[in-house]
Amino acid sequence: MAAVNLDNVQGDLFSRGFPKIKETYYFFSIVPGKEKDFSTALAALGNSGKISSLKKVLDDWVKVDGAPKNEIVPVSNALIAFSKTGLDKIQTGLTGRGLDLDNLTTSDPAFAAGMARDGPENLNDPAPTSWDPLFNASPIHGILKVAGHCQEIVNSKLDEIKKILGYPNIIADIAAQSLPTSANSRVDGQVRPKDQGLNGREHFGFEDGVSQPLLKGINEDAAFNKDTFMPRRGRSPHCGEWTLQNVPRGWWKAAFSSFASSSKTFRGLLSSPRNSKMELAQTLITVVQSAPIVLFPDQDATSDPVASNDFKFTNNNVCPLAAHIRKTNPRDDSVFTRNARIVRNGIPYGSEFSVDESGKRGLLFACYQSSIDNGFQFIQKIWINNPEFPEAPSTAGFDPFTAQPPNDGQLHITMFDPSEKKLDTGLGHFPKLVTMKGGEYFFVPSISALTGTLGSA
Ligand code: HEM
Repeated sequence: MAAVNLDNVQGDLFSRGFPKIKETYYFFSIVPGKEKDFSTALAALGNSGKISSLKKVLDDWVKVDGAPKNEIVPVSNALIAFSKTGLDKIQTGLTGRGLDLDNLTTSDPAFAAGMARDGPENLNDPAPTSWDPLFNASPIHGILKVAGHCQEIVNSKLDEIKKILGYPNIIADIAAQSLPTSANSRVDGQVRPKDQGLNGREHFGFEDGVSQPLLKGINEDAAFNKDTFMPRRGRSPHCGEWTLQNVPRGWWKAAFSSFASSSKTFRGLLSSPRNSKMELAQTLITVVQSAPIVLFPDQDATSDPVASNDFKFTNNNVCPLAAHIRKTNPRDDSVFTRNARIVRNGIPYGSEFSVDESGKRGLLFACYQSSIDNGFQFIQKIWINNPEFPEAPSTAGFDPFTAQPPNDGQLHITMFDPSEKKLDTGLGHFPKLVTMKGGEYFFVPSISALTGTLGSA
């Protein structure tokens, strides 16, 4: 018996996510006074089959995996999710049905606050006034995340869904852009060029999406015990419907954040003078790579995805304390680590550095978890941005890759030699490598909640 109702869970909510070459994130608002109509339209969307179930996406992956190498399999998939202000809006259109949204404030304060408040207050994010206009123009009530094998198929799926949702009378664009996408209300991401072997890599050049928690009931067979993950039971609104044995209901939230990556600064760091070749290798490879260089000295860890994930951080000289993979997953068995596991399914955006050095590029970071407080917020605030974590044997420094230092300041990291003596890598203090350009937290309902809890016939 399947532990998970694969027809009811939205299809991006697992470790592989949507198969994709192009992906568009479309943000919308619900037109004032049209809340009731929106719930009716939402129910129609739920019944239309246009929002992908996990079953559909798993079937797509079978087709993609079974296709000859280099053949592009036609696929398109979509996810819908709502911000807290979006849920509040939907609530006003539902007569005689309470979503009990007040509970969110106590059960997940970060989600209830929204990213525009939580980011600057807790994550050292820049003030929303300096975000890309799309993310601070007007309240974002919902998001459609649409992925496919080409932009045309993505656009046409998006248009079909917008039509069902009553665009432009019931839902409307956010009248602002996030360059380099030159259309209002959306950001377009794409996988990096396959013909150059860059597909699957983010813009600094590292393979992404390697280390993911595997989900009970989906792909737990391949998981190490410590890494199977189960979304926790939610409190309200009860429309997550992640049906697991012994866990009748769970619910998912998504954190979306747009990061601009400074490839120039990164390359500058790579070419700065260093004391030894070994130190350079350690700094550059292990700050991000998903395995210690002792296991994979010469190549990316992805050559063996299982082995690359089956390790603990024992030697500080092998994996620096501040490495991105260590900060974001300490690989200990503590309750904090277990609660902080997130499923990441983002996509790069922008031009190739080799084509346009001064162009804008980065990562449309998207992650899923049952609690923003325990997941995205905890990882960024308590681990990534905290130079004291992990403590022993001495101050680790910031996550050199994704830390947002206080007051937009500089980063530093500490390195050790094999006898745990501090090394001077010559890096000193350096500017942050990514800048947060905007984002929002979203609640990802089950498909039956679109027709039931949130929708009305
Ligand atoms: C521009 C921003 C970012 C870039 C370019 C980036 C890139 C990467 C890369 C290259 C990896 C290693 C490969 C892998 O295991 O997938 C990784 C791992 C990871 N990242 Fe990020 N990341 C970014 C932001 C973030 C943020 C904001 C968070 C969380 C708040 C995060 C959480 C993680 C986690 C949990 C892992 C897996 C660690 C492990 O289990 O080994 N990342 N990231």
